[in-house]
Amino acid sequence: TQQRITVIRGDGIGPDIVDAAIQILDKVGCDFAYDYADAGLVALENHGELLPQETLDLIAKNKVTLKGPLTTPVGEGFTSINVSLRKQFQLYANVRPVLSFKGTKARYEDIDIITVRENTQGMYSGLGQVVSADGSEAEAMSKITREGAERIVTFAYELAVREGRKKVTAVHKANILKSTSGLFLKVAREVAQRYPQIESTEMIVDNCCMQLVMNPHQFDVIVTTNLFGDILSDLCAGLVGGLGMAPGANIGKDCAIFEAVHGSAPDIAGKNLANPTSVILASIQMLEYLGMADKAEKIRAAVKEVIESGDRTTRDLGGSHGTTDFTQAVLERL
Ligand code: NAI
Ligand code: MG
Repeated sequence: TQQRITVIRGDGIGPDIVDAAIQILDKVGCDFAYDYADAGLVALENHGELLPQETLDLIAKNKVTLKGPLTTPVGEGFTSINVSLRKQFQLYANVRPVLSFKGTKARYEDIDIITVRENTQGMYSGLGQVVSADGSEAEAMSKITREGAERIVTFAYELAVREGRKKVTAVHKANILKSTSGLFLKVAREVAQRYPQIESTEMIVDNCCMQLVMNPHQFDVIVTTNLFGDILSDLCAGLVGGLGMAPGANIGKDCAIFEAVHGSAPDIAGKNLANPTSVILASIQMLEYLGMADKAEKIRAAVKEVIESGDRTTRDLGGSHGTTDFTQAVLERL
């Protein structure tokens, strides 16, 4: 039967870059059927809510979603749509690979790092948010469970084994966040014992930031808690030419959402300036998830050729072209 994909085009630059990815999927003959659904600001305008029930139903029904970035209005009492989606569908693993292409403005070559970020717990999950009546005090709760830590660390090692990777680094702050990060590190050490064929290291998160900038080639797979993973993955994107190069997969037991790491980029929205590579690479992750590795590889090779030859690349990569020209260059190579 034909694979149906739920598509959320998203806000800001979302529609432009998601449409680019879909043109490319169609070009290589994926033969998907797409169900379009609204979320974010678009949904607020069209349906009066950020995350309509019919969107949730479509995500659940098709189990595979390709998604553009969503804008959550700040300070208006809305909880983040992305956090809601990840919690609601228990998309516990956020897999964020970065890979160097020549021809970008990146400072390094040959970067190949996967950050595996826990996606449902920790400081990011919005538990216990309280601001006192007079606004002078604020607090939030961070919760890590043994089950959650074990699930994400095991996921990282299984990914390392499957993809022939050599090393997993657990990133933490157990020296200060003794209870939460402490539990994460304890469990990471236990899981590491089960994978003697993989080199296991650990690093405190602030040092990890410096090490990523000074000597990124020492890293292979990084596994970490939610907030640290959020920050480190943007840092990693910066190593390979910026957020326009960084895809992410949100994976749960039987449901997955593929998206870019970046947001809706309001500063360049509607100007045909966005680099669609992030979402194109996310759609490659989607193809690999669906067992369509040959098509994934075809698209990756075409994107690589376009970027490395500098043919019609976008401004963030040092070129002078727009989203549509870049997409056309990739389509021509396919
Ligand atoms: P952002 O990631 O949207 O933009 C940061 C910088 O990177 C901007 O200068 C932007 O122009 C640039 N950039 C991002 N994607 C690019 C691309 N494909 N090509 C070229 N340049 C690109 O972060 P910002 O401005 O902090 O957030 C904007 C909105 O996005 C906020 O409402 C935020 O909540 C939302 N957001 C949504 C996410 C999601 O849906 N997964 C993730 C992160 C933020
Ligand atoms: Mg982020």
